[in-house]
Amino acid sequence: MCGIVGYLGGSSAAAQPVLFDLLKRLEYRGYDSAGIAVMNGSIQVLKTKGSVNNLMSETPILRGCCGIGHTRWATHGKPSSKNAHPHCCDTNKIAVVHNGIIENYIEIRDKLIDLGHKFRSETDTEVLPHLIEENYNNDLESSVRQALSMVRGSYALAAISSNDPDKIVVARKDSPLVLGLGETGFFIASDVSGILKYTKDVIFLNDRELAVISHNGIEITTLDGKKVDKKIETIKWNAESAEKSGYPHFMLKEIFEQPDVIRETFSGRMSAEGVDLEVVMPDARRIIITACGTSYHAGLFGRYVIERFARIPVNVEIASEFRYINPIVNSSDLVIGITQSGETADTLAAVREVNLEKSQKFGIVNVPGSSITRESQCLFTRAGPEIGVAATKSFTSQLAVLLLLAVQLGRARKEMSTADANDFVYDLKQMSGNIQRVLNEADNIKKCALVFADADQFLFMGRGANYPIALEGALKLKEISYIKAEGFPAGELKHGPLALIYDGVPVVAIATEGVTYEKMLGNIKEIKARGATVIGIANESDTKIEKYVDRVLRIPDSNPWISPVLSSVVLQLFAYYVADYKGCEIDKPRNLAKSVTVE
Ligand code: F6R
Repeated sequence: MCGIVGYLGGSSAAAQPVLFDLLKRLEYRGYDSAGIAVMNGSIQVLKTKGSVNNLMSETPILRGCCGIGHTRWATHGKPSSKNAHPHCCDTNKIAVVHNGIIENYIEIRDKLIDLGHKFRSETDTEVLPHLIEENYNNDLESSVRQALSMVRGSYALAAISSNDPDKIVVARKDSPLVLGLGETGFFIASDVSGILKYTKDVIFLNDRELAVISHNGIEITTLDGKKVDKKIETIKWNAESAEKSGYPHFMLKEIFEQPDVIRETFSGRMSAEGVDLEVVMPDARRIIITACGTSYHAGLFGRYVIERFARIPVNVEIASEFRYINPIVNSSDLVIGITQSGETADTLAAVREVNLEKSQKFGIVNVPGSSITRESQCLFTRAGPEIGVAATKSFTSQLAVLLLLAVQLGRARKEMSTADANDFVYDLKQMSGNIQRVLNEADNIKKCALVFADADQFLFMGRGANYPIALEGALKLKEISYIKAEGFPAGELKHGPLALIYDGVPVVAIATEGVTYEKMLGNIKEIKARGATVIGIANESDTKIEKYVDRVLRIPDSNPWISPVLSSVVLQLFAYYVADYKGCEIDKPRNLAKSVTVE
């Protein structure tokens, strides 16, 4: 949600092209408006409604080696050039970019108006430059500190002042911020994929920390002024993984990366004993998984496999609800937060809630250095940077980690024999190759997708561990193609959703081998009898399915607990080709942003 960037190069460096490039790389965090401010004696600001490309197309060349920038996902005030960041104080001597929400901005703005300040936007952020100006006492750092002591809410911000040139002051509370130390200067970004092209050496700011970046280096203190020694961490992701590398969209590239991603997710985690994960906590009496969106669907899948292999009861909770239901959590519970970004405000808050109850907890996360990794032990999914807003490789890598976890818990609790664990691990090792075989069928999946691409409604259904995959298939389709799509447990259709079936409505039925296969065929008959056109996802060796459905998309034969991963890849490609046919902005669907850092 909103990307903030900053750059300070040597005195002959040009900040503007670097800021544009950083913003383009963070655009998946928001694309309602964009802007930069560059220091060259005075502060020069350029901003516009819409994407970073819009900004770049109408921008004169600004000179200066120091600047900040912002790409916005609107919360307070509609997308417009006036509401775009950077925001400045009355004298234009201070400019600020901000990600987060200033909760008491109305109260602060009213006081500042009484003091004579003039506001130009409807944003909460605009109070910050005015407040810094009001508290200005000859240096930017102490004025920012003073201003921040008066605000409530969340922020990652960067501020510059023409009174204190070639210096950027940044601070964070509950919104992410990373500083990069490169050969050509210092970089600031909301997350590492923004700066990977320039450097892998980074410092992650923690909550309530403030950094001053100047030609003398980076100095970090707490908000109340205590010096902090921070470690420089080296990011292992390679820079190319954050590029499109010839694919038309990041989403397609990320779908095609999945065989490699799964190999990486499994690497070093399978041993002679079965599975060897870094964090497990096998003594839990109950597991509570909490997450949002696609990660929540992974959590639902986790429930099926953990209960099956480890016989531990699992509850799966939508993070934004979990916080407010006054959850009953006790010390024998294990809480697992699943989040690709590691920054989703609701998931972080849900996991923090657990601190109060002193139960065990850990995160399943993709982004190194993200907020959840600073608060909990974590299992990394190792999917690499995911830039497309629609989660793809992060989802299958979450499923892969959950399968590993289920096996390890099953072994630790003696619910799974060594022989069964070894057999299962053997099957897991086939997963990457089987995903590749699904990808080899992309042209067939595309042909099928194009037959249905003009439909105005889709239903997805599955049973057992395929039910979360049906939900995920529907989410993928609706978020990138804007077609109405819902996922259902197939057995539940006759309790209401069957009323949605009419002549020709496309229904995607995941009918792969497993205990519910015969039941699925029954459910398919029910909807066919009412006129639905059914696209079945079935195993290669299934000879029956053709008699039941109108079209079949095949996946390689595999263990029924692993085939949901393969079906997910089919549904990702299906959604991608429908959205591409419709000419949708696939990597940046309307109204969405990748990292949801506001509640
Ligand atoms: C959908 C999607 C979202 C995210 C959700 C949680 O494709 O990406 O539904 O899954 O916003 O994000 P993370 O996993 O970063 O917590």
